[in-house]
Amino acid sequence: MSLQDDLKALRQQALLRISAAKTLKELNEERVKELGKKGSLTEVLRGMKDLSADERPEVGALANEIRNALTDRIAERQALLEKEVLDAQLAEEQIDVTLPGQPAIQGQPHVLQQIIEGLEDQFMGMGYQIIEGPEVEQDKYNFEMMNLPKDHPARDMQDTFYISDELLMRTQTSPVQARTLEQHDFSKGPLKMISPGRVYRRDTDDATHSHQFHQVEGLVVDKHITMGDLKGTLLAVAHQLFGEDHDIRLRPSYFPFTEPSVEVDVSWGPVTPDTKPEEIEWIEVLGAGMVHPNVLEKAGVDSSVYGGFAFGLGPDRFAMLKYGVEDIRNFYLNDVRFLTQFDQKG
Ligand code: PHE
Repeated sequence: MSLQDDLKALRQQALLRISAAKTLKELNEERVKELGKKGSLTEVLRGMKDLSADERPEVGALANEIRNALTDRIAERQALLEKEVLDAQLAEEQIDVTLPGQPAIQGQPHVLQQIIEGLEDQFMGMGYQIIEGPEVEQDKYNFEMMNLPKDHPARDMQDTFYISDELLMRTQTSPVQARTLEQHDFSKGPLKMISPGRVYRRDTDDATHSHQFHQVEGLVVDKHITMGDLKGTLLAVAHQLFGEDHDIRLRPSYFPFTEPSVEVDVSWGPVTPDTKPEEIEWIEVLGAGMVHPNVLEKAGVDSSVYGGFAFGLGPDRFAMLKYGVEDIRNFYLNDVRFLTQFDQKG
């Protein structure tokens, strides 16, 4: 058999095998087998050296033609197999849009955040500014400027995490009073602000104590502010949080930064004109009072001209009362089963 015959036979068989390749892998193996360096075409062409000079061009042309034919057929087959793979993949990945979806879990503001935001909305509506202060605070603002010098016995009321002699974790949001009073320009108008945030005390955690909890401080300073303004403001807070039919009661108390000072109770149940006083159950919810002149003077405010009221309330305590939560630690464990109960979306 001549070399030409060998080549033609090779072409025929190779074309058949290429067409029979069922996968891209098989096809690639075939390509290597036919056209690769050690492939059958190369093998046959090795015989060229034995040909005469006349025969060589003819055989060379035939070999090229075969190489092109095989290359074309491989490309064709490859396109076909790739399309098959893609079709199979598309068929498998078909999306059934009628299947019920998997609901995405959506979070909601923490219950304490909800209480704080409710208060922020309410006080912004009454023209207050919202001001935040640092949680790592100077002794100066947390105590000294609040009329609690270093040896003051009332410091014992607030067991403190000290960082150094002068730095501490704030035990109350009241230092924001001192910071704001120091900055405020009274020629531009009265000072009305609330300051929500975290506070820290060296307490052993139990159902009613947490070493970290929240406060919302309130401060109003202007000319002619009275205790009536304080009571009206706190009544509005009680109404917003517990309902319009709840009442408040002020009892004398003591804080170094207010004089007079009061503790404020809210009625546990509704109070109507028919409710007998002895039937009302009162629950203590916050501390308040008229700003002590020393606090004003230490911040550079003339206490013979300006005066005001301040209050400090605990969102944790409010939330416990409002929702009947018996253990304050629940607010800080972040158990979703607890938290999702306060979903406002209903
Ligand atoms: N800072 C006080 C406390 O933490 C609360 C308070 C604030 C009382 C403002 C009076 C005025 O107990």
